[in-house]
Amino acid sequence: MTRTDGYLFDNRQTEAGERFDALAALFDPTTFRHLEALGVGPGWRCWEVGAGGTSVVSWLAKKVGPTGRVVATDIDTSRVAAVARPPVEVRVHDVGAQEPPGEEFDLVHARLVLVHVPDRERALRSMVEALRPGGRILVEDADPALQPLICPDEHGPEQHLANRLRQGFRQLLADRGADLAYGRRLPRLLREAGLRRVEADAYFPVTSPACAALESATIRQLRDQLVAAGLATDQDIDRHLANVTSGGLDLATAPMISAWGRKA
Ligand SMILES: C[S@@+](CC[C@H](N)C(=O)[O-])C[C@H]1O[C@@H](n2cnc3c(N)ncnc32)[C@H](O)[C@@H]1O
Repeated sequence: MTRTDGYLFDNRQTEAGERFDALAALFDPTTFRHLEALGVGPGWRCWEVGAGGTSVVSWLAKKVGPTGRVVATDIDTSRVAAVARPPVEVRVHDVGAQEPPGEEFDLVHARLVLVHVPDRERALRSMVEALRPGGRILVEDADPALQPLICPDEHGPEQHLANRLRQGFRQLLADRGADLAYGRRLPRLLREAGLRRVEADAYFPVTSPACAALESATIRQLRDQLVAAGLATDQDIDRHLANVTSGGLDLATAPMISAWGRKA
């Protein structure tokens, strides 16, 4: 299927569910720590942008309770639809091309979304506009250019192959218009958008079973695209998947930058 929204993956594929589970295992503790610190609680009105899977939306729903509201949007809601019951509303929505799905939100959050959105400037503007005065924003995005290797310790042919395939994946992302150095820009972009008390930090998994699960699902999901673009052969991919399954590789992810602030 040819897509025009820039996003490389199809959320309906089995591997997408595996990817969302791995992203939750890797990044939910960091996201929840930040959301707790921002004070999310009963009655809050939240917009979860590019929700993808269900873990963050379910966590928010529990925090805001029956008097709150969680609007979960995505260009492809096939996964998050599973939790579409009060206080959660699920909507198909392109954050880079459509008006916000509401206003006066207490919290707007997006994780690993804006890096993929061709008009990410408009997307961020729209997210800030949708906040009430004093409302909080948390934007979390990868910065693959800060640390481009999936095997930072490249000590053998297996690690070399893994890093070569990772380079191919990055190429596919860049060809779709992804900004591979977006994470580091977030503090400045939030300040330029008029937000106050902007802070940021980063989380960088170096090796874990969830990193391996994410890599396996990603490579299986992108196999055809990698081969069609001449970035890998089927043999490369089979060999790499076997190496991942054997558990002998220390696989990392790109650092995820979390940046937050408050609307004046
Ligand atoms: C890497 S996934 C991250 C999902 C989830 N936020 C998480 O951290 O687990 C990116 C998500 O952004 C969604 N997405 C991509 N482009 C989008 C756009 N223009 N508007 C809204 N959602 C978008 C995708 O469909 C996908 O669900």
